[in-house]
Amino acid sequence: MADKKINIFDTTLRDGEQVPGCKLNTNEKIELALALEDLGVDIIEAGFPISSPGDFASVQAIAKVIKNSAVCGLSRAVEKDIETAAEALKGAVHPRIHTGIGTSDSHIKAKFNATREQILERAVQSVKWAKNFVDDVEFYAEDAGRTDNDYLAKVIEAVIRAGATVVNIPDTTGYCLPHQYGEKIAYLINNVPNIDKATISCHCHNDLGLATANSISGVLNGAGQIECTINGLGERAGNTSLEEVVMVLKQHHTLGYYTNIKTQKLNPVSRLVSETMRMPVQANKAIVGSNAFSHSSGIHQDGFLKDAQTYEIIAPEEVGADGSRIVLTARSGRSALAHRFQKLGYPFNRNEIDVLYAEFLKIADRKKEVEDADLQLMAKSFETITVSS
Ligand code: KIV
Ligand code: ZN
Repeated sequence: MADKKINIFDTTLRDGEQVPGCKLNTNEKIELALALEDLGVDIIEAGFPISSPGDFASVQAIAKVIKNSAVCGLSRAVEKDIETAAEALKGAVHPRIHTGIGTSDSHIKAKFNATREQILERAVQSVKWAKNFVDDVEFYAEDAGRTDNDYLAKVIEAVIRAGATVVNIPDTTGYCLPHQYGEKIAYLINNVPNIDKATISCHCHNDLGLATANSISGVLNGAGQIECTINGLGERAGNTSLEEVVMVLKQHHTLGYYTNIKTQKLNPVSRLVSETMRMPVQANKAIVGSNAFSHSSGIHQDGFLKDAQTYEIIAPEEVGADGSRIVLTARSGRSALAHRFQKLGYPFNRNEIDVLYAEFLKIADRKKEVEDADLQLMAKSFETITVSS
Protein backbone atom coordinates (compact mmCIF):
# COMPACT_ATOMS: atom_id res chain seq x y z
CA MET A 1 0.00 0.00 0.00
CA ALA A 2 1.25 3.53 -0.81
CA ASP A 3 2.47 5.62 2.10
CA LYS A 4 -0.10 7.99 3.61
CA LYS A 5 0.55 11.73 3.55
CA ILE A 6 0.06 13.41 6.93
CA ASN A 7 -0.86 17.09 6.68
CA ILE A 8 1.10 19.42 8.90
CA PHE A 9 -1.05 22.24 10.31
CA ASP A 10 1.20 24.80 11.96
CA THR A 11 -0.30 26.94 14.71
CA THR A 12 2.85 28.75 15.87
CA LEU A 13 1.26 32.06 14.85
CA ARG A 14 -1.96 31.35 16.77
CA ASP A 15 -1.63 28.87 19.68
CA GLY A 16 2.13 29.59 19.87
CA GLU A 17 1.66 33.34 19.83
CA GLN A 18 -0.77 33.13 22.78
CA VAL A 19 2.26 32.47 25.02
CA PRO A 20 3.02 35.41 27.33
CA GLY A 21 5.92 37.39 25.85
CA CYS A 22 5.62 35.84 22.36
CA LYS A 23 3.31 38.47 20.86
CA LEU A 24 4.28 39.37 17.29
CA ASN A 25 3.60 42.41 15.14
CA THR A 26 2.33 42.06 11.57
CA ASN A 27 5.77 42.24 9.93
CA GLU A 28 7.14 39.57 12.26
CA LYS A 29 4.11 37.37 11.57
CA ILE A 30 4.56 37.73 7.81
CA GLU A 31 8.26 36.84 8.06
CA LEU A 32 7.45 33.68 10.05
CA ALA A 33 4.55 32.73 7.77
CA LEU A 34 6.85 32.89 4.73
CA ALA A 35 9.42 30.73 6.56
CA LEU A 36 6.71 28.19 7.45
CA GLU A 37 5.54 28.05 3.84
CA ASP A 38 9.12 27.54 2.72
CA LEU A 39 9.47 24.76 5.30
CA GLY A 40 6.59 22.97 3.57
CA VAL A 41 3.73 23.17 6.08
CA ASP A 42 0.35 22.39 4.52
CA ILE A 43 -1.73 24.79 6.61
CA ILE A 44 -0.70 27.95 8.48
CA GLU A 45 -3.05 29.00 11.26
CA ALA A 46 -2.31 32.71 11.00
CA GLY A 47 -4.28 34.00 13.97
CA PHE A 48 -7.64 34.66 15.61
CA PRO A 49 -8.98 37.62 13.59
CA ILE A 50 -11.77 38.72 15.98
CA SER A 51 -9.35 38.84 18.92
CA SER A 52 -7.82 42.24 18.06
CA PRO A 53 -7.53 44.68 15.13
CA GLY A 54 -3.79 43.89 15.04
CA ASP A 55 -4.40 40.17 14.65
CA PHE A 56 -7.04 40.81 11.99
CA ALA A 57 -4.49 42.88 10.04
CA SER A 58 -1.85 40.15 10.42
CA VAL A 59 -4.15 37.40 9.14
CA GLN A 60 -5.19 39.62 6.25
CA ALA A 61 -1.57 40.38 5.32
CA ILE A 62 -0.54 36.70 5.57
CA ALA A 63 -3.54 35.66 3.45
CA LYS A 64 -2.24 37.92 0.68
CA VAL A 65 1.40 36.75 0.60
CA ILE A 66 1.04 32.98 1.12
CA LYS A 67 0.40 31.08 -2.10
CA ASN A 68 1.06 27.37 -1.52
CA SER A 69 0.01 26.65 2.06
CA ALA A 70 -3.62 27.02 3.12
CA VAL A 71 -4.15 30.00 5.44
CA CYS A 72 -6.45 29.45 8.37
CA GLY A 73 -8.19 31.80 10.80
CA LEU A 74 -9.60 30.74 14.17
CA SER A 75 -13.08 31.60 15.40
CA ARG A 76 -15.46 30.60 18.16
CA ALA A 77 -18.85 29.15 17.19
CA VAL A 78 -20.14 32.69 16.94
CA GLU A 79 -21.45 34.26 13.72
CA LYS A 80 -19.54 37.53 14.14
CA ASP A 81 -16.26 35.63 14.78
CA ILE A 82 -16.78 33.55 11.66
CA GLU A 83 -17.62 36.57 9.50
CA THR A 84 -14.52 38.39 10.76
CA ALA A 85 -12.32 35.38 10.01
CA ALA A 86 -13.85 35.14 6.52
CA GLU A 87 -13.21 38.85 5.94
CA ALA A 88 -9.56 38.56 7.02
CA LEU A 89 -9.03 35.52 4.77
CA LYS A 90 -10.55 37.11 1.66
CA GLY A 91 -7.27 37.44 -0.25
CA ALA A 92 -6.09 33.86 0.45
CA VAL A 93 -5.53 31.35 -2.36
CA HIS A 94 -6.54 28.50 -0.03
CA PRO A 95 -8.60 29.94 2.86
CA ARG A 96 -9.74 27.81 5.78
CA ILE A 97 -12.00 28.79 8.68
CA HIS A 98 -11.36 26.93 11.94
CA THR A 99 -14.44 27.14 14.12
CA GLY A 100 -15.62 25.16 17.12
CA ILE A 101 -16.85 24.89 20.66
CA GLY A 102 -16.14 23.02 23.91
CA THR A 103 -17.77 19.57 23.99
CA SER A 104 -16.68 18.14 27.36
CA ASP A 105 -19.25 18.24 30.17
CA SER A 106 -16.89 20.53 32.06
CA HIS A 107 -16.93 23.08 29.20
CA ILE A 108 -20.64 22.65 28.49
CA LYS A 109 -21.60 23.32 32.10
CA ALA A 110 -18.93 25.69 33.42
CA LYS A 111 -18.29 27.76 30.29
CA PHE A 112 -21.65 27.73 28.54
CA ASN A 113 -24.18 26.72 31.20
CA ALA A 114 -25.80 24.76 28.39
CA THR A 115 -26.89 21.23 27.51
CA ARG A 116 -25.24 18.74 25.20
CA GLU A 117 -28.10 19.20 22.70
CA GLN A 118 -27.64 22.99 22.63
CA ILE A 119 -23.89 22.66 22.06
CA LEU A 120 -24.43 20.18 19.23
CA GLU A 121 -26.84 22.61 17.61
CA ARG A 122 -24.35 25.51 17.93
CA ALA A 123 -21.60 23.34 16.45
CA VAL A 124 -23.71 22.53 13.39
CA GLN A 125 -24.84 26.13 12.93
CA SER A 126 -21.27 27.42 13.09
CA VAL A 127 -20.07 25.04 10.38
CA LYS A 128 -23.07 25.89 8.18
CA TRP A 129 -22.39 29.60 8.67
CA ALA A 130 -18.70 29.22 7.82
CA LYS A 131 -19.60 27.26 4.68
CA ASN A 132 -21.26 30.43 3.34
CA PHE A 133 -17.80 31.98 3.06
CA VAL A 134 -15.29 29.18 2.33
CA ASP A 135 -15.33 25.54 1.18
CA ASP A 136 -12.66 24.44 3.62
CA VAL A 137 -14.10 24.46 7.14
CA GLU A 138 -12.37 22.81 10.06
CA PHE A 139 -14.37 22.13 13.21
CA TYR A 140 -12.71 21.80 16.64
CA ALA A 141 -14.38 20.00 19.54
CA GLU A 142 -12.54 21.80 22.33
CA ASP A 143 -11.51 19.52 25.23
CA ALA A 144 -12.32 16.45 23.11
CA GLY A 145 -9.67 14.66 25.19
CA ARG A 146 -12.10 14.71 28.15
CA THR A 147 -15.30 14.46 26.09
CA ASP A 148 -17.47 11.35 26.32
CA ASN A 149 -16.74 9.35 23.13
CA ASP A 150 -20.36 8.58 22.33
CA TYR A 151 -21.38 12.26 22.46
CA LEU A 152 -18.22 13.31 20.60
CA ALA A 153 -19.08 10.87 17.79
CA LYS A 154 -22.58 12.41 17.49
CA VAL A 155 -21.12 15.94 17.26
CA ILE A 156 -18.53 14.90 14.69
CA GLU A 157 -21.11 13.11 12.53
CA ALA A 158 -23.37 16.19 12.63
CA VAL A 159 -20.64 18.72 11.74
CA ILE A 160 -19.42 16.57 8.85
CA ARG A 161 -23.02 16.42 7.58
CA ALA A 162 -23.04 20.24 7.87
CA GLY A 163 -19.96 20.43 5.64
CA ALA A 164 -16.84 20.24 7.84
CA THR A 165 -13.88 19.07 5.77
CA VAL A 166 -11.56 18.56 8.76
CA VAL A 167 -12.55 17.53 12.30
CA ASN A 168 -10.12 18.54 14.99
CA ILE A 169 -10.03 16.42 18.18
CA PRO A 170 -8.06 18.58 20.63
CA ASP A 171 -6.64 17.22 23.84
CA THR A 172 -6.88 20.80 25.06
CA THR A 173 -5.64 20.13 28.59
CA GLY A 174 -2.98 17.55 27.67
CA TYR A 175 -4.82 14.99 29.79
CA CYS A 176 -4.90 11.84 27.66
CA LEU A 177 -2.46 8.96 27.70
CA PRO A 178 -1.24 7.94 24.24
CA HIS A 179 -3.34 4.76 24.13
CA GLN A 180 -6.45 6.68 25.26
CA TYR A 181 -6.01 9.37 22.63
CA GLY A 182 -5.42 6.72 19.95
CA GLU A 183 -8.53 4.81 21.09
CA LYS A 184 -10.57 8.01 20.82
CA ILE A 185 -9.52 8.45 17.19
CA ALA A 186 -10.22 4.76 16.48
CA TYR A 187 -13.64 5.13 18.17
CA LEU A 188 -14.54 7.97 15.81
CA ILE A 189 -13.38 5.99 12.78
CA ASN A 190 -15.52 3.04 13.83
CA ASN A 191 -18.59 4.92 15.05
CA VAL A 192 -19.02 7.98 12.82
CA PRO A 193 -20.71 6.70 9.64
CA ASN A 194 -19.60 9.64 7.42
CA ILE A 195 -16.04 9.91 8.83
CA ASP A 196 -14.56 9.11 5.39
CA LYS A 197 -15.83 12.53 4.20
CA ALA A 198 -13.44 14.45 6.51
CA THR A 199 -9.84 14.40 7.68
CA ILE A 200 -9.31 13.80 11.40
CA SER A 201 -6.87 16.21 13.01
CA CYS A 202 -4.83 15.79 16.22
CA HIS A 203 -4.30 18.91 18.35
CA CYS A 204 -2.47 17.91 21.53
CA HIS A 205 -1.17 19.97 24.43
CA ASN A 206 1.88 19.06 26.46
CA ASP A 207 0.75 19.42 30.10
CA LEU A 208 2.01 15.90 30.89
CA GLY A 209 4.78 15.92 28.28
CA LEU A 210 2.73 13.60 26.05
CA ALA A 211 1.76 15.86 23.14
CA THR A 212 4.10 14.27 20.59
CA ALA A 213 3.29 10.70 21.69
CA ASN A 214 -0.45 11.44 21.61
CA SER A 215 -0.30 12.97 18.12
CA ILE A 216 1.61 9.97 16.79
CA SER A 217 -0.89 7.65 18.47
CA GLY A 218 -3.67 9.60 16.71
CA VAL A 219 -1.97 9.10 13.34
CA LEU A 220 -1.43 5.38 13.97
CA ASN A 221 -5.17 5.12 14.59
CA GLY A 222 -6.25 6.94 11.44
CA ALA A 223 -5.82 10.72 11.83
CA GLY A 224 -4.58 12.51 8.71
CA GLN A 225 -3.46 15.87 10.12
CA ILE A 226 -1.29 16.99 13.03
CA GLU A 227 -1.57 20.46 14.56
CA CYS A 228 1.74 21.58 15.98
CA THR A 229 4.10 24.49 16.57
CA ILE A 230 7.78 25.17 16.04
CA ASN A 231 9.74 24.46 19.25
CA GLY A 232 6.49 23.15 20.82
CA LEU A 233 5.41 26.68 21.77
CA GLY A 234 1.84 27.09 22.96
CA GLU A 235 -0.50 27.63 25.89
CA ARG A 236 0.90 26.56 29.29
CA ALA A 237 3.32 23.66 28.66
CA GLY A 238 2.92 24.08 24.91
CA ASN A 239 1.64 22.20 21.90
CA THR A 240 2.93 19.23 19.93
CA SER A 241 6.32 20.15 18.56
CA LEU A 242 6.41 20.20 14.75
CA GLU A 243 10.03 19.10 14.47
CA GLU A 244 9.40 16.11 16.74
CA VAL A 245 6.36 14.66 14.98
CA VAL A 246 7.89 15.21 11.56
CA MET A 247 11.11 13.44 12.53
CA VAL A 248 9.26 10.59 14.29
CA LEU A 249 7.37 9.88 11.05
CA LYS A 250 10.57 10.23 8.98
CA GLN A 251 12.76 8.07 11.22
CA HIS A 252 10.03 5.43 11.44
CA HIS A 253 9.14 5.59 7.73
CA THR A 254 8.39 1.86 7.80
CA LEU A 255 5.16 2.79 9.58
CA GLY A 256 4.02 4.08 6.17
CA TYR A 257 3.58 7.83 6.66
CA TYR A 258 5.29 10.91 5.26
CA THR A 259 5.01 14.70 5.42
CA ASN A 260 6.02 17.42 2.97
CA ILE A 261 8.34 19.12 5.47
CA LYS A 262 11.85 19.95 4.20
CA THR A 263 13.61 18.67 7.28
CA GLN A 264 16.93 20.43 6.51
CA LYS A 265 15.15 23.69 7.30
CA LEU A 266 13.99 22.64 10.78
CA ASN A 267 16.88 24.12 12.77
CA PRO A 268 17.03 27.43 10.86
CA VAL A 269 13.26 27.91 11.27
CA SER A 270 13.48 26.96 14.95
CA ARG A 271 16.16 29.63 15.48
CA LEU A 272 14.14 32.23 13.59
CA VAL A 273 11.02 31.51 15.69
CA SER A 274 13.01 31.52 18.92
CA GLU A 275 14.65 34.87 18.12
CA THR A 276 11.51 36.54 16.75
CA MET A 277 9.32 35.37 19.64
CA ARG A 278 12.09 36.00 22.18
CA MET A 279 11.64 32.51 23.58
CA PRO A 280 14.85 30.47 24.09
CA VAL A 281 14.86 26.77 23.22
CA GLN A 282 15.85 24.44 26.06
CA ALA A 283 19.30 22.94 25.43
CA ASN A 284 18.11 19.33 25.58
CA LYS A 285 15.11 19.87 23.27
CA ALA A 286 14.82 17.05 20.71
CA ILE A 287 15.97 17.92 17.16
CA VAL A 288 16.56 21.65 17.72
CA GLY A 289 18.16 22.01 21.19
CA SER A 290 21.81 23.12 21.33
CA ASN A 291 22.71 19.76 22.94
CA ALA A 292 20.67 17.59 20.55
CA PHE A 293 23.88 16.53 18.77
CA SER A 294 26.44 16.99 21.59
CA HIS A 295 28.32 14.07 23.13
CA SER A 296 30.01 14.53 26.46
CA SER A 297 30.52 11.25 28.28
CA GLY A 298 33.63 9.18 27.55
CA ILE A 299 31.70 6.02 26.65
CA HIS A 300 29.47 7.87 24.18
CA GLN A 301 32.35 9.83 22.67
CA ASP A 302 34.42 6.70 22.11
CA GLY A 303 31.49 4.96 20.35
CA PHE A 304 30.56 8.06 18.36
CA LEU A 305 34.14 8.53 17.11
CA LYS A 306 34.21 4.91 15.91
CA ASP A 307 30.81 5.18 14.20
CA ALA A 308 28.44 8.15 14.60
CA GLN A 309 25.41 5.87 14.39
CA THR A 310 26.26 4.26 17.71
CA TYR A 311 24.87 7.34 19.47
CA GLU A 312 23.05 9.34 16.80
CA ILE A 313 19.84 8.21 15.14
CA ILE A 314 19.60 11.37 13.03
CA ALA A 315 22.44 13.01 11.10
CA PRO A 316 22.58 16.69 12.13
CA GLU A 317 22.62 17.85 8.50
CA GLU A 318 19.28 16.08 7.92
CA VAL A 319 17.62 18.61 10.25
CA GLY A 320 19.86 21.57 9.41
CA ALA A 321 21.79 21.49 12.70
CA ASP A 322 25.35 22.84 12.79
CA GLY A 323 26.90 19.40 13.28
CA SER A 324 27.76 16.98 16.03
CA ARG A 325 29.83 18.29 18.90
CA ILE A 326 32.23 16.49 21.16
CA VAL A 327 32.18 18.41 24.42
CA LEU A 328 35.20 17.95 26.67
CA THR A 329 34.20 17.70 30.31
CA ALA A 330 35.41 15.78 33.37
CA ARG A 331 33.26 12.87 32.08
CA SER A 332 35.14 12.69 28.75
CA GLY A 333 37.63 9.98 27.93
CA ARG A 334 41.02 9.61 26.25
CA SER A 335 39.60 8.98 22.75
CA ALA A 336 37.80 12.32 22.70
CA LEU A 337 40.87 14.11 24.04
CA ALA A 338 43.17 12.51 21.46
CA HIS A 339 40.67 13.30 18.73
CA ARG A 340 40.48 16.97 19.69
CA PHE A 341 44.28 17.31 19.95
CA GLN A 342 44.54 15.72 16.51
CA LYS A 343 42.08 18.28 15.12
CA LEU A 344 44.14 21.08 16.66
CA GLY A 345 47.28 19.76 14.95
CA TYR A 346 48.79 17.71 17.80
CA PRO A 347 48.79 14.00 16.86
CA PHE A 348 49.90 12.71 20.30
CA ASN A 349 50.52 8.98 20.71
CA ARG A 350 48.81 6.81 23.32
CA ASN A 351 51.48 7.23 26.01
CA GLU A 352 51.52 10.98 25.56
CA ILE A 353 47.71 11.09 25.82
CA ASP A 354 47.92 9.12 29.09
CA VAL A 355 50.12 11.83 30.58
CA LEU A 356 48.06 14.67 29.16
CA TYR A 357 44.79 13.08 30.30
CA ALA A 358 45.75 13.38 33.97
CA GLU A 359 46.42 17.09 33.44
CA PHE A 360 43.20 17.45 31.45
CA LEU A 361 41.10 16.01 34.31
CA LYS A 362 42.50 18.57 36.74
CA ILE A 363 41.35 21.39 34.44
CA ALA A 364 38.02 19.67 33.71
CA ASP A 365 37.22 19.34 37.41
CA ARG A 366 37.69 23.09 37.74
CA LYS A 367 35.80 24.12 34.59
CA LYS A 368 32.43 23.09 33.14
CA GLU A 369 33.88 22.62 29.66
CA VAL A 370 37.50 22.39 28.53
CA GLU A 371 37.99 24.58 25.49
CA ASP A 372 40.41 24.56 22.58
CA ALA A 373 42.40 27.42 24.14
CA ASP A 374 42.99 25.28 27.26
CA LEU A 375 44.20 22.40 25.08
CA GLN A 376 46.53 24.64 23.08
CA LEU A 377 48.18 25.77 26.31
CA MET A 378 48.44 22.18 27.56
CA ALA A 379 49.95 21.01 24.28
CA LYS A 380 52.50 23.82 24.19
CA SER A 381 53.73 23.30 27.75
CA PHE A 382 53.81 19.52 27.18
CA GLU A 383 55.97 20.00 24.08
CA THR A 384 58.26 22.40 25.95
CA ILE A 385 58.75 19.90 28.78
CA THR A 386 59.40 16.94 26.46
CA VAL A 387 61.85 18.91 24.26
CA SER A 388 63.83 20.22 27.23
CA SER A 389 63.99 16.86 29.08
O1 KIV B 1 -6.36 23.53 22.47
C1 KIV B 1 -7.42 23.75 21.84
O2 KIV B 1 -8.45 23.13 22.06
C2 KIV B 1 -7.38 24.81 20.84
C3 KIV B 1 -8.59 24.97 19.98
C4 KIV B 1 -8.98 26.39 19.86
C5 KIV B 1 -8.34 24.32 18.65
O3 KIV B 1 -6.38 25.46 20.67
ZN1 ZN C 1 -4.64 24.48 21.55
